[in-house]
Amino acid sequence: MEQLQIGSVGRSVCRIGLGTWSMGGWMWGGADERSARATIERALEMGIDLIDTAPVYGFGLSERLVGEVVESLGVRDAVVIATKCGLVWDDRQEPWRDSSAASIRREVQQSLDRLRTSWIDLYQVHWPDEATPFEETAAALQDLVDEGLVKAVGVCNYSAEQMERFARAVRLDATQFRYNIFERANEDLREYARRRGLFAMAYSPLARGLLTGAMRADREPSDPARRAPMYHGEQYRRHLAAVEALDDLAQRRYGRRVIHLAVRWLLDRPGISAVLWGARKPEQLDQVEGVWGFEVEEPDFAAIDAIVESLADVPS
Ligand SMILES: NC(=O)c1ccc[n+]([C@@H]2O[C@H](COP(=O)([O-])OP(=O)(O)OC[C@H]3O[C@@H](n4cnc5c(N)ncnc54)[C@H](OP(=O)(O)O)[C@@H]3O)[C@@H](O)[C@H]2O)c1
Repeated sequence: MEQLQIGSVGRSVCRIGLGTWSMGGWMWGGADERSARATIERALEMGIDLIDTAPVYGFGLSERLVGEVVESLGVRDAVVIATKCGLVWDDRQEPWRDSSAASIRREVQQSLDRLRTSWIDLYQVHWPDEATPFEETAAALQDLVDEGLVKAVGVCNYSAEQMERFARAVRLDATQFRYNIFERANEDLREYARRRGLFAMAYSPLARGLLTGAMRADREPSDPARRAPMYHGEQYRRHLAAVEALDDLAQRRYGRRVIHLAVRWLLDRPGISAVLWGARKPEQLDQVEGVWGFEVEEPDFAAIDAIVESLADVPS
């Protein structure tokens, strides 16, 4: 199991973290709490000691489940909990961005309560809020660090320019962005994180299930998390064909499967510190072990690119 240090958190963590968005159910067709708890337990048993959550995941549910499991196993000191602020919601469960100091102050207390803890290891702004001065958000987070409620500060979905602005006012240790074999729009953020020495987490590493090899042509996903064109119609079929080609390469070259190759490819990209593996059933973590013990060899990066480039002419 590979580990890396997250700046001010002051310890190393497993380079595969558990992502808890889907287990909260919101945008993923509902939650199964029993299965979600078992998934968190399984991750911890396996040595996955980085858990990424957010208040908005299941409108409090994911954080609550993480808090309950970590407390019941008595492992709080051994786990790095990364949660978020800056996305709030109303009675209709419609989220919006608010990274004002007042909102952060309210949110942190709610997260600490749900997580049943007295500190958050990594506190991340969920989405940039251009209506609030970045200096205000950064200062509010610095106060939480000074008070010992938060160990390290991160951001998600910020551009490089936004991170530059933000990092002038508080020590920035980590960043999260969408990045996987199929979705590479954030290459510049990978490079920025590498240059600035940030702990960079790739989210949606499995392209929300597409790169696992488990999705089937006759079962198009219907949940809002997978509403992008690549999960529907001709694009879906073409992506599934690319998954098959990647699976073939993984088997031929490494004796692995596409899910292992998809995560290994990320871990071997310069600047990527960790991947956040989203799971909501314990058996979805069975393949984690197969990610260790090999590296993507140089010619295969080009072979993978060629498979992805064959998708470029797909009509949307
Ligand atoms: N900061 C942000 O704005 C942001 C945004 C997105 C995600 N994230 C973080 O990143 C994490 C991961 O991203 P993600 O959840 O979007 O996508 P992901 O990790 O690419 O995909 C997760 C989904 O893949 C499927 N899956 C996982 N393991 C599997 C296996 N072994 N076999 C078959 N299917 C499997 C499951 O879907 P089914 O259960 O439906 O089969 C699971 O819910 C999130 O949980 C969250 O913590 C952060």
